[in-house]
Amino acid sequence: MLGKARRPRGAAPLNCGEPEPVTDKRIVLIIGGGIAAYKCLDLIRRLKERRVRVRAVLTRAGEQFVTPLSVGALTNEPVFTNLFDLDAEREIGHIRLSREADLIVVAPATADLIAKMAGGHADDLASTVLMATDKPVLVAPAMNPRMWLHPATQRNVAQLRADGIRVLEPAVGEMAERGEAGAGRLPEVPELLAAIESMLAAAGASVATTPAGHSARPLAGLHVLITSGPTHEPIDPVRYIANRSSGKQGHAVAAAAVKAGARVTLVSGPVALPDPAGVDVMHVETAAEMLDAVREALPADIGIFAAAVADWRVANAEGEKIKKTASARTPTLSLVENPDILKTIATPKAGRPRLVIGFAAETENVTEYAKKKLKSKGADWIVANDVSPETGVMGGDRNAIHIVSAEGVESWPDMSKTEVAERLVARIAAHVANRRPEAAQ
Ligand code: CTP
Repeated sequence: MLGKARRPRGAAPLNCGEPEPVTDKRIVLIIGGGIAAYKCLDLIRRLKERRVRVRAVLTRAGEQFVTPLSVGALTNEPVFTNLFDLDAEREIGHIRLSREADLIVVAPATADLIAKMAGGHADDLASTVLMATDKPVLVAPAMNPRMWLHPATQRNVAQLRADGIRVLEPAVGEMAERGEAGAGRLPEVPELLAAIESMLAAAGASVATTPAGHSARPLAGLHVLITSGPTHEPIDPVRYIANRSSGKQGHAVAAAAVKAGARVTLVSGPVALPDPAGVDVMHVETAAEMLDAVREALPADIGIFAAAVADWRVANAEGEKIKKTASARTPTLSLVENPDILKTIATPKAGRPRLVIGFAAETENVTEYAKKKLKSKGADWIVANDVSPETGVMGGDRNAIHIVSAEGVESWPDMSKTEVAERLVARIAAHVANRRPEAAQ
């Protein structure tokens, strides 16, 4: 049934008693037809906690999965379903609806909705709002993995990105259909929130803290310590042993953690990157200096060890430049093992960060080696990635990671290092929130 803009009369609003939005942040949430549409109900609640006004548009297929009544009860706003609804047009109108928002979010975005957007269709309210808007648009796809990988969908997604629309990578996992697994799940609510917040912030519309003290900056009040980049181990004053780490991933995590409200200390090896804004950066060169700086920066609530620390240093680094004299033999380097910073900090003891995350750079058997590192290093999570030269991860701008923890392995599709960082920080925030006493809500 095609409905009008429906106020949730007849049922007590679920958010009755919650404070009305006092900020002017507005989101239009377009809910497409997919089994994951139920997650939008929680997303709306979380946005309302952050005092963001949400106006929802339900596509015809979306109405098969969530009702205008439940959506309207949570948004406390009319729910829009029909392009040709006179009452709705008189009340707000599709042009105003699309222009009064700070951000338009499409979640779940089906293959069909994405195709419509890529093709510039405007034959229902959702597609018309999307065509009429001059505001940033965030698309969170959710569909069967084969539909996601279909060349038509990939072509359409590439078109949307070329048009300046931010399209999230779907999460990987089991699908509702039995026996189906792969990329196609709607990202979890904390990840959707992180993406929304970063887009609102980019649009100059940062999200407010709720009166109840729930923060849209979910890591507020926490100290996050991050290591990043390579270390350089001197051979003599002009030569050193190094590796190809660029520090891009670790630095991106630092920037994302600041955005999430944390106090961030970044212990950085030698990199060609600017210091991320708002971060306390300690510049070091060797593994020994990195360990000293980490110890100095403690205590921390969360430790993220993204640095590619050199495993060995030269036993007797020369104080003067080694000369190539005719009589001298070719020098032989004798190596000694460096301290393992991650293992040192992850060891259970008073003052250990409550969440310790290591990275694992591998060129083969990625998740198997990562599982071993999880145990041998005592970390809570290992973020593993394949750094074989053909992946282009080392020094590149993209990454495909696996999060290995006691709960198992979660594999994320290839995405930009910035997106990995934002999603990782959102995942950390969700983990921390579950362990905070006030999390029971
Ligand atoms: N790490 C560390 N100190 C070291 C070596 C590694 O803190 N001396 C940390 C890295 O920052 C990363 C994790 O340990 O979080 C795994 O690093 P990686 O280089 O992948 O593993 P290694 O322990 O060095 O083992 P291998 O080189 O044999 O794979």
